Amino acid sequence: MKIAVIGSGYVGTTTAAVLTSLHHHVTAADIDITKVKKLKQGILPFVEPGLDKFLISMLETGRLNFTADIYQAVKDNQVLLIAVGTPSRADGTADLRFLQSVADTIACSIHEYKVIVIKSTVPVGTNRWFSDYLGNKIGNPHMFDVISNPEFLREGNALQDMLHPDRTVIGGKSQKAIQIVKEIYESMQSNLLVTDWETAELIKYASNSFLATKISFINEIARIAEHAGADVVEIARGMGMDSRIGSEFLRAGIGFGGSCFPKDLKALIATAKELGADSKILEAVEYINRTQPNFYTEKLNRLLQKIAKRPWKIAILGLTFKPDTDDQRESPAIQVVNHLLEECEEIRIIDPTIQTRNQTPWPHEQKVTICRTTTESLSGADAVILCTDWEQFSNIDWKEAASHMRHPVLLDGRNMFDPDDIRSAGMRYLALGRGE
Ligand code: UGA
Repeated sequence: MKIAVIGSGYVGTTTAAVLTSLHHHVTAADIDITKVKKLKQGILPFVEPGLDKFLISMLETGRLNFTADIYQAVKDNQVLLIAVGTPSRADGTADLRFLQSVADTIACSIHEYKVIVIKSTVPVGTNRWFSDYLGNKIGNPHMFDVISNPEFLREGNALQDMLHPDRTVIGGKSQKAIQIVKEIYESMQSNLLVTDWETAELIKYASNSFLATKISFINEIARIAEHAGADVVEIARGMGMDSRIGSEFLRAGIGFGGSCFPKDLKALIATAKELGADSKILEAVEYINRTQPNFYTEKLNRLLQKIAKRPWKIAILGLTFKPDTDDQRESPAIQVVNHLLEECEEIRIIDPTIQTRNQTPWPHEQKVTICRTTTESLSGADAVILCTDWEQFSNIDWKEAASHMRHPVLLDGRNMFDPDDIRSAGMRYLALGRGE
C-alpha cells in the first residue's frame, strides 16, 4: 500500500519505518526541512534506541522516503497517517492547531479518495470534528474517510512497541476505510479492536490515565509507608504478585513526566469538565504527581539543614523524564532542581544526553553546571539526587563516590538502589517510604 505519514516526531518516524518493514511504500512528511534532511540520511533528530539502525535498513529498501513537501505526499498516497503533536494549552485542553493545519493542507491537495488515519492523541470528538471540518472545506464529504488509530508507543521503547503491539485500535464509521486500515496491519500479530471514533479516542486517554493512576497510587502508598516505617518497594512487589494487579507501573519515585501522561491527564480532566462528568480520581492522580518531587526535596532539605552549611552543592543524576530518551518535557527532575536552586551555591547535573547548559531549562543560570563524569558531579557535593534511572548510574562505585563528597548523602528518586548496599558503602540513603 502507498502510505504518507505526516509528522516525523518519534511516533511518526517509528511508524513510517515499521510500515516500511511490512512491505508498504511510505513517504514520511514533515514541515521541518532540517529534520527531513537528517532523516533522509538516516540521522535521528531525537534519541530512540534501536531506531537509528532500523531506519537505515528501511531507507536501503528504497520503499521509505522523507520529504518536506506535504502537498505532494498527500497527492501521491491513498492513506494519510497523521502523527503531529497535540500539545497542552494553559487550561489543560489539547492544542489542535497542527492537526487543523494538516486538514488545510489536505483540503488544498485532495483530488481522489483518501483514508485519513489519525494517530496523534486527540481529545474525544476530534475525529468527528476533523471529518466535519475537512468535509466542509472541500465541499465533498465522500472524498475521504477518517479513522482513529491511537498509538501506544513508549519513548525509549518505541520500535519494539510498534513492532509487537499489545493491541491495534481502529475507530471509524466507514467499513471500506476500516478494511483498508486492517490490511495495513494485517501481517502484525496483535489483538484487533474495531470500534467507533469516540471509543477509540477514549481508549487512548483511559489507558495513559490508568497507568498514571498506578504510579500516583504507589506514590501515595510511599507517603503512607514513610509514616508507617514500611518499604514501598516491597509493598509494590507484594502487590504485583497478584496477577489481577500486575507488577508494572508500580515503581514509586519522584513521579511521572514526559510529553504524554501529564498532558493526557490534564486533557481528560478538561474533557470531563466540558462534558459535565466527574474526574475526581484523575484530579487526585494529577495532584499527587505535582506534589511528589517536593516530598523528596523537602526530606533532603530537613536533613541538610542539620548537617550541612548553606548554600549547598547538589549533584543531580539524570534530567530526562526517563532513561533512553533525550526528552526533558515535564521531567520531575526539573521541579527538583527548581525547588533547590535558591538554597544552593551550585547544582551539578550529569545526564548522558546533555553536553551544555543550553540543553537545560536554565541556559543562563550560573549556579547550574553540566558535568561529563559522575565523579565530577559528585566532587564536593553535600548530597546527590538520582532523578532518572539511566542504566549507567547503576554501576556507580558508591564507596569511591562517598570519598569525593562533602556529605555522602544519596536521595534515591527512583528507588534504583538497595539501601543496604548504599549504606554499607558509607553513604546515607534517603528515599520516600523506605526506612530512614
Ligand atoms: C506513555 C505510555 O506508556 C505509552 O503507552 C503511550 O503510547 C505514550 O505514553 C504516549 O501517549 O505517547 P511514555 O510517556 O513514553 O509512554 O513513558 P512511560 O514509560 O510510560 O513512562 C512515563 C513516566 O512514568 C516516566 O517519567 C517514568 O519514569 C514514570 N514511571 C513509569 C514511574 O514513575 N513509575 C513506573 O512504575 C513507571
